Amino acid sequence: MHVNTPPLGWNTWNTFAANINEQLIMESADAMVETGLLGAGYTYLVIDDIWHLKERGKDGRMVPDPEKFPHGMKYVADYVHSKGLKFGMYSCAGYMTCAGYPASYDYEWLDAQTFAEWGVDFLKYDFCFHPMTVRPDTLYKRMGLALANCGRDILFSACSWGSENSKMWIKETGADMWRSTGDIFDTWESIKELAQSQLKYQEYNGKGCFNDMDMLVVGMNGKGNVGLKGCTKEEYRTHFSLWALLNSPLMIGCDIRNMDADTKEILLNREVLKINQDPKGCQPFFANNNMWRVNENRKSDVEPHFMNYPLEVPIIAKYLDNGDIALGVFNFMDTPANRWHMTVTCDNLGLPRNCSKTFECVDVWTGEVIKAFNDTLSLDEIAPHACRLFRVRIVDK
Ligand code: GAL
Repeated sequence: MHVNTPPLGWNTWNTFAANINEQLIMESADAMVETGLLGAGYTYLVIDDIWHLKERGKDGRMVPDPEKFPHGMKYVADYVHSKGLKFGMYSCAGYMTCAGYPASYDYEWLDAQTFAEWGVDFLKYDFCFHPMTVRPDTLYKRMGLALANCGRDILFSACSWGSENSKMWIKETGADMWRSTGDIFDTWESIKELAQSQLKYQEYNGKGCFNDMDMLVVGMNGKGNVGLKGCTKEEYRTHFSLWALLNSPLMIGCDIRNMDADTKEILLNREVLKINQDPKGCQPFFANNNMWRVNENRKSDVEPHFMNYPLEVPIIAKYLDNGDIALGVFNFMDTPANRWHMTVTCDNLGLPRNCSKTFECVDVWTGEVIKAFNDTLSLDEIAPHACRLFRVRIVDK
């Protein structure tokens, strides 16, 4: 598999966990087409844990739960494919999945072959109950190699939660994306914690293997498996902007059969998706005014250059293929952010000072255009937990 842009899709876990079946999958496949998600680029429909029986069959293969999937998985995959979507499934590198169902340790080649026969295009591969006597990289290599030899192009979505220093070895395993976080929950605190923890991993992120910040909670509104208290529309918008700008795969986790208007507006924002799917796949970087500290850190190889980033109001930029710059300002504080927090100068973006250029900043959420001449972009207040996300075009004065 050659993954040039972060994979986009929908996964059952955040809302449905064990409550999955053929009907849900088929209705969700229909919804991906009818709501325009597929048209916007969301291609993968992924069934997470708890799809199978507690015992393998006599032939050693995993067995889909016949109550949930009475026609088997090939039938479901065929339906998903008939809609123009790709089909994903889930297993784990240990003896059991996280929910205690059969997993692929010592069955890697048989399971890869089985998934290939069913028509699977994407495998999420978890890390629970793994043997302590086998190195973690070896566990993922085993499945990576089995998939590469299974005769079908299957995207390998590693899910070791960033543990065991995964960032150092995950690309060796053939993974196409890697979970760099623990599990997300549908609260502002969880979004904030995950986002802040990820800023320092950007140098491991990019084409071929993207940092997966976990599935989206946009539109869950407190319902479902990881529902908890839910978030405001503004918080969901900040969440989506961050995941998009930080090159994370965008795997929707709400019930897409029943999305409200706000949810659709967020998930289907084409300009935000374009930033995420930019063909150049550049790494995002800090553009806060105290960049000099960041550059100091860069002199040493010991710590990533994101070490001293400003955690409360990060300003993050990413170069785009056509010469534009994506620029996001995120207010993690519980109080408004002001000009003092939010001044961006041209050298922070990589332009010479006094270069006689104008930044033309199009707010991709509101369409508002802000022009900044020559030097400094100063933003007005940003509300607590809100953000601004721009596509910046550099034009002559
Ligand atoms: C966790 C994983 C979740 C979900 C769950 C299933 O380890 O991070 O995304 O897949 O297992 O049991």
